[in-house]
Amino acid sequence: MKSVFYSRFFILLPWVLIVVIIIDIDTRRPSISNRVPTARHYSPYWKHRNGRAALMRPQPSDTSMASGTTNQEQLTSSDNQWAKNNSLPIIYAITPTYSRPVQKAELTRLANTFRQVPRLHWIVVEDSPHPTDLVSRFLSEASVRATHLHVPTPRRYKRSGLPRATEQRNAGLAWLRQKYQPKTSHHLQRSGAQPPVQQEYPAGVVFFADDDNTYSLELFQEMRTTQKVSVWPVGLVGGRRYERPVVENGKVVGWYTGWRADRPFAIDMAGFAVSLQVILSSPKAVFKRRGSQPGMQESDFLKQITTVQELEPKANNCTKVLVWHTRTEKVNLANEPKHPQDTIKIEV
Ligand SMILES: *[C@@H]1O[C@H](CO)[C@@H](O)[C@H](O)[C@H]1NC(C)=O
Ligand SMILES: *[C@@H]1O[C@H](CO)[C@@H](O)[C@H](O)[C@H]1NC(C)=O
Repeated sequence: MKSVFYSRFFILLPWVLIVVIIIDIDTRRPSISNRVPTARHYSPYWKHRNGRAALMRPQPSDTSMASGTTNQEQLTSSDNQWAKNNSLPIIYAITPTYSRPVQKAELTRLANTFRQVPRLHWIVVEDSPHPTDLVSRFLSEASVRATHLHVPTPRRYKRSGLPRATEQRNAGLAWLRQKYQPKTSHHLQRSGAQPPVQQEYPAGVVFFADDDNTYSLELFQEMRTTQKVSVWPVGLVGGRRYERPVVENGKVVGWYTGWRADRPFAIDMAGFAVSLQVILSSPKAVFKRRGSQPGMQESDFLKQITTVQELEPKANNCTKVLVWHTRTEKVNLANEPKHPQDTIKIEV
């Protein structure tokens, strides 16, 4: 009896392993095309809300990643304020986010800040194979001009010690590159403007706004004048009260940091902004997975688009802290029942 069981077990075992491997390969497949920094891993679908007609963009010819992300453009009451000064450079804040107990609280804090910033466009990128109801609902009511994207982190990258949110930041960059590339050339042709040697893009600034940081409104005034890449101090980071670029005669000459001062750009994700012009004219600049060491995401990215000598110090020659790398305490859910016990279901 026992030997029959074991012989069946050993006959079946290889087949079970093969099935497991096939399933695993299948779930990894999207990540292969993610590595290619092209603008095709999101659906071309976007729509205006609040009375504006829904607009469908043509399907790109390569739809292999079309299911990766959808995006929605939401125009809300702050749109009036947004439109007041059209010559003010747009600030694109790219926020990677993922589902967790504090997610809505964090996004609420951010929305309350961003709502007060003129001409800010929030690009929220969920780490998810589909847009979640929570974030969709949240953004539709947030009164912040927002685009909702999503892209799942491949399973093999979900380990501690590996950089987080790489795919999400790249999806935000890819969305910007798709949004502006074709439209701008069309506009130039129609308006009969001379085709410039280097293509002109609308004035804008791109900034990576993680959902757990705290942002002063003054920070946005500072970054709005970014010509190429601007930098400033970040509070409560790197095991110190603050880190900052060291500035002499208006130029960055080094880094005050508590951790790996040998990094080419020893700066946190919250410590820099890049002009839209630079993002669009260097389409290959993305956050890297391959060959990137822990804590080198910022350096690996900035190396592709600028040099230390070129950096523009903001915040009074990098002497003021206007953003804090705050961390929300891990919530205690020890008394949370396994199965719902309340009579109603509440989104938290
Ligand atoms: C609009 O923004 C531009 C560029 O920053 C600025 O020069 C101009 O004074 C602003 N106009 C108004 C009416 O605020
Ligand atoms: C920064 O330093 C430079 C050179 O010392 C100086 O010209 C400039 O006015 C300073 N900027 C600010 C905002 O203090």
